[in-house]
Amino acid sequence: MLTIENIKEKLSTISYPGFTKSIVDFGFVKDIAIDGDKVAVYVEITSSAEEVEKELRENITKELTMLGATDLNIAIAKPQAPKQMSNSMSGNNMTPQVKNFVMVSSGKGGVGKSTTSVNLAIALAMQGKKVGLLDADIYGPNIPRMMGLDGQEPEIIGSKIMPYKAYGVEVMSMGSLVEEGKALVWRGAMIQKAIQQLLRDILWSDLDVLVIDMPPGTGDAQLTLAQSVPVAAGINVTTPQHVALDDSRRSLEMFSKLHIPIAGIIENMSGFVCPKCGEESDIFGSGTCDDLAKEYNTKVLANIPIEPNIRVGGDEGKPVVYFYPDSKTGKKYLQAAQQLWENIEKSHADGAIGNADIQPNLPAGVSACSTEGQAYQKEQEAKKAAEKSGCCGGGHCDS
Ligand SMILES: Nc1ncnc2c1ncn2[C@@H]1O[C@H](COP(=O)(O)OP(=O)(O)O)[C@@H](O)[C@H]1O
Ligand SMILES: [Mg+2]
Repeated sequence: MLTIENIKEKLSTISYPGFTKSIVDFGFVKDIAIDGDKVAVYVEITSSAEEVEKELRENITKELTMLGATDLNIAIAKPQAPKQMSNSMSGNNMTPQVKNFVMVSSGKGGVGKSTTSVNLAIALAMQGKKVGLLDADIYGPNIPRMMGLDGQEPEIIGSKIMPYKAYGVEVMSMGSLVEEGKALVWRGAMIQKAIQQLLRDILWSDLDVLVIDMPPGTGDAQLTLAQSVPVAAGINVTTPQHVALDDSRRSLEMFSKLHIPIAGIIENMSGFVCPKCGEESDIFGSGTCDDLAKEYNTKVLANIPIEPNIRVGGDEGKPVVYFYPDSKTGKKYLQAAQQLWENIEKSHADGAIGNADIQPNLPAGVSACSTEGQAYQKEQEAKKAAEKSGCCGGGHCDS
């Protein structure tokens, strides 16, 4: 006999293409209805790729027919083209349980990229969002120390990794997964693989936002991330010296090229207030980022001063926004997080989250670098060319 329970049980044996988790575990099965041996199933997926829908339809048909359903109505809803969408699921999303991805970048190391990622992630969680923090700085992962998680071993479940939890945020770091110093010699394909594994193999819960601390610069890691998930916002962290701003410009340029909406700039180490006399001095300068922000049609989300509490908080795993939310700096991080969220919502409304254009158009689970992936892309290009020339593309006609 067909019951909702045994249909659900069957559906939970069907994995989402490219993943080991099932469509039921992902929460994609939204409705099941039965009338005799007629069954209707409503599924909502996060990929717009036709191959994913096709594979799912076939698998669901097979499983439910085996169960005895004779008249099947399978409705699969998937995201539309980016312009008409109100959510971020455009193009590939290797981590479909995450709604929004934020890329935190800097032109170079040591400017406070990790400090910013930590404090913004916690601030978003304090504002009621479900937040993850991914330390993807393969060259200098230091989020575990800053989140008070140093020395902890990650829990492995099957082939997947459980994120840690600290200050209301789910956390995972490249540093917890790779032997110290090993990643220093990585290039191209190794970096691509590492970033994709971080996206695919961590058991994040359903998150509103995943803040990603990237390696400094504009390289393979950034490109891979943008090609694997729809990035909803880019944040650039810089110090106010003009030399730092030159590097920052490259980061902002990269966001544009990767079709990532720029949420804003964090001007870090912007001035110093002497804790003894209270006098303010501009060690690295301050306010210099305003022009840069204008140039890229964005704004400075916060000017964070050099503050002993920030450095001590980082070293001791006691982030300033969590321990001193009412301090001047704590408030600045909270405000910046709020602006970041507003920016993400605005980008959704404008249909601006659409880095699908720069993503290889591949079925889920197929790498662009594999022979299979390259063959697929060639086939797609040939199809497109054939469509343009009016031919069916099936290779049957002479024209
Ligand atoms: N505004 C600040 N005031 C004081 N110390 C800071 C500030 N921002 C960052 N730091 C400290 O500077 C160092 C480098 O910051 P970090 O966030 O690790 O930079 P990045 O990730 O860009 O390499 C850390 O020790 C951090 O605690
Ligand atoms: Mg860092």
